[in-house]
Amino acid sequence: MSAHPDLDAAWASFFAEADRARTRRIADLFDDSDRAVHFSARALGMLFDYSKTHIDGAAREALLGLARAARVELMRDAMFSGARINGSEDRAVLHTALRNLSGVPVMLDGEDVMPGVLDTLEQMKAFACDIRAGRFKGQGGAITDVVNVGIGGSDLGPAMATRALTPFHDGPRCHFVSNVDSADLADVLGGLDPATTLVIIASKTFTTIETMTNAASILNWMSVHVADPAAQCVALSSATDRVAEFGIPPERVFGFEDWVGGRYSVWGPIGLSLMIAIGPKDFTEFLAGGAAMDTHFRTASLADNLPVLLALVGLWHHQGMSFQTRAVLPYEHRLARLPAYLQQLEMESNGKRVGQGGQSLPHGSGPIVWGEPGTNGQHAFFQLLHQGTEIVPCEFMIGAEGYEPDLAHHHRLLVANCLAQSEALMTGRSLSDAREIAASLGFSGDKLMAQAEQRVFEGNRPSTTLAYPRLTPRVLGQILALYEHRVFVEGVILGLNSFDQWGVELGKDLAKRLEPLVAGKAPPEDMNQSTGLLAAYLRAPK
Ligand code: F6P
Repeated sequence: MSAHPDLDAAWASFFAEADRARTRRIADLFDDSDRAVHFSARALGMLFDYSKTHIDGAAREALLGLARAARVELMRDAMFSGARINGSEDRAVLHTALRNLSGVPVMLDGEDVMPGVLDTLEQMKAFACDIRAGRFKGQGGAITDVVNVGIGGSDLGPAMATRALTPFHDGPRCHFVSNVDSADLADVLGGLDPATTLVIIASKTFTTIETMTNAASILNWMSVHVADPAAQCVALSSATDRVAEFGIPPERVFGFEDWVGGRYSVWGPIGLSLMIAIGPKDFTEFLAGGAAMDTHFRTASLADNLPVLLALVGLWHHQGMSFQTRAVLPYEHRLARLPAYLQQLEMESNGKRVGQGGQSLPHGSGPIVWGEPGTNGQHAFFQLLHQGTEIVPCEFMIGAEGYEPDLAHHHRLLVANCLAQSEALMTGRSLSDAREIAASLGFSGDKLMAQAEQRVFEGNRPSTTLAYPRLTPRVLGQILALYEHRVFVEGVILGLNSFDQWGVELGKDLAKRLEPLVAGKAPPEDMNQSTGLLAAYLRAPK
């Protein structure tokens, strides 16, 4: 007898609906002339359309039943109220407090965390203003360039958001170094003047080998040209004690607590480079967008709740329809790093094999997430999306307006392409239409059939579209918080802890053990033959 009979029953209805849907044509569902309205939702000026999926009314009921049975609302409230829902690390999950601009108390173990959060925000703003106004100077004058040294959540969030908000940049140039590959560091430092460069060392733990190595090398680079490299250095970390080793004075250390997960940290000190690039006012707008999505998530009914709907559609495709991957396709070139950001958010959060109690997950974990901005992807992998034998649910994103009024015709083409792709994936092209095309090209007989078959699109391939007015700081904040909560809801329904990441440990440990071998010293005793062969080749390639 299961401990969760309601949840088991909800999963059973979910799978029964998914089975029924397998033979369904999405296009036929549009016999309901109001389908697009019935299977879309609006919030905070955004429109989420999921009508081009196999989900019908009964399937949606089953999905909502699953959310109810998994007690999504209860878990959501537990997260916002500071419960230690990250069981394996015994931590609360309160990154939402970083964007709680109202300052309404957020209690953790009987103490309000908000005064500390707001103090740090003020400290960040004052520092960003000093940099932007040229009051904080490098040893060669006002700061012209900022280099954020960090990896994973200490890089992807600020790097992605800084690029996304390029039209709002009015501060010094911002650069990002993450990879331990010296090429990353060398290519960024190549064009910079150490005497006017600010270095931000961003690491929650201040132990991550890539960041510590890059930080030491960048300080060495500075020390050749400036007397006191640490004077042009800032640290963002939860481990403020470890920062001392770098000689960075406390007033330039921006701390945050262990209840902010790395991949959820762009809203606080880890967002300092973004704040310097766009200014405190627009950074506050970004936070306000995230906070508005928090309020929506906490108050909207499940059926109208964007994060819940995105999560349910995701589960429908991966668990229900057995589609292995999910493509994220922003038709917004400045969101080029969003797929990478969402990869960490989704795959580090929900790429797990067991639940909080160590038991195997009954319905598997989250999907593989990948993607590229449109229209570039169209000329690379869309062939497979349209005609390959793997079905990949596509998540399109598009803004109504761009930022280049003189080039408005580009934006019209961008929108037309985005809409064309979801339409083509769904409707496809029949054999008879393909035959007509082949005949019009002059083919006949056997050749006509062969040519026609290759021009057939089976269609019936699902997609969703998130449309928004324009990619402002506020809208970006809304989108990121939307995806954070989507990942959370998926994790709750799958019964896993979205906030730990034990799967990254083994590779890190082995890399440490293998470094001496790469340097030509003794191999670890238990090293595999293949690894030994590769290491020998890489020491002396012949
Ligand atoms: O790769 C694992 C990870 O711990 C991520 O979760 C994190 O965002 C990244 O490394 C960087 O960690 P830190 O900010 O502690 O350097």
